[in-house]
Amino acid sequence: MARKPLMAGNWKMNNTISEAVVLTQEISNHFERDWDESVDVLICPPYVDLKPVWTVLDFDKTGIGVAAQNVYWEQKGAYTGEISVPMIKEIGCVASIVGHSERRELFGETNEDVNRKVKALTDADMFAIVCVGESLAIRDEGTTLDYVCAQVRAAFAGIDVFKARDCVVAYEPIWAIGTGRTATPEQAEEVCAAIRTTIADLYDEDTAEGMRVLYGGSMNPGNVAALLEMPNIDGGLIGGASLDASSFITLIEACI
Ligand code: 13P
Repeated sequence: MARKPLMAGNWKMNNTISEAVVLTQEISNHFERDWDESVDVLICPPYVDLKPVWTVLDFDKTGIGVAAQNVYWEQKGAYTGEISVPMIKEIGCVASIVGHSERRELFGETNEDVNRKVKALTDADMFAIVCVGESLAIRDEGTTLDYVCAQVRAAFAGIDVFKARDCVVAYEPIWAIGTGRTATPEQAEEVCAAIRTTIADLYDEDTAEGMRVLYGGSMNPGNVAALLEMPNIDGGLIGGASLDASSFITLIEACI
């Protein structure tokens, strides 16, 4: 089954509203209007930038979507500082990243939290971009596949197959994030293939074949082609290189 590639730019905590509008406009100006037949593109800015970014993309009819970087699982209530699924949905988000390693490491997000977020998103007919990935210590120990596949199982625990189908898994080895040290295409492929096998095991072959598995971690114009050539890598979750319009566009063009 041919899977349509997905390139998602995770801006992390970068760009004020005015900076976000400028960058989005630059991306939009260089995005050819028929590219969305060959590739899905998402921009994942900070919460406050979501509406302005969506407004530029919608006005320009780019076909590029917006997604949040995180979301809370409760619908509303006394959860100071949190943002709910209905809130990001109304802004125009189609998805949210969940379980990014920075959230797991810096903010104590657990596998159970990730699972609750996947459930909240898919219950609202949105999809989750579920991040998984090992630390250098785990890689050196030789337990990467067990660790990452356990994260995948935990994220999808109790999620109905019809809801899981639209979700995306992003394999992001922690040692490759923001370090300039990319996993080799073979290293990334090995883990992405194991993720797909885990999905087949949890659900069925069709679901596994249809689900997009992304690679993230220092993806850049120099390494994108070799990574995308791998049979189980269906796109990228891009940090640093998505903050520059021309490099993000180059990465998107690699999918055309
Ligand atoms: P970099 O592309 O900056 O390594 O970040 C990857 C990432 O964490 C995307 O979510």
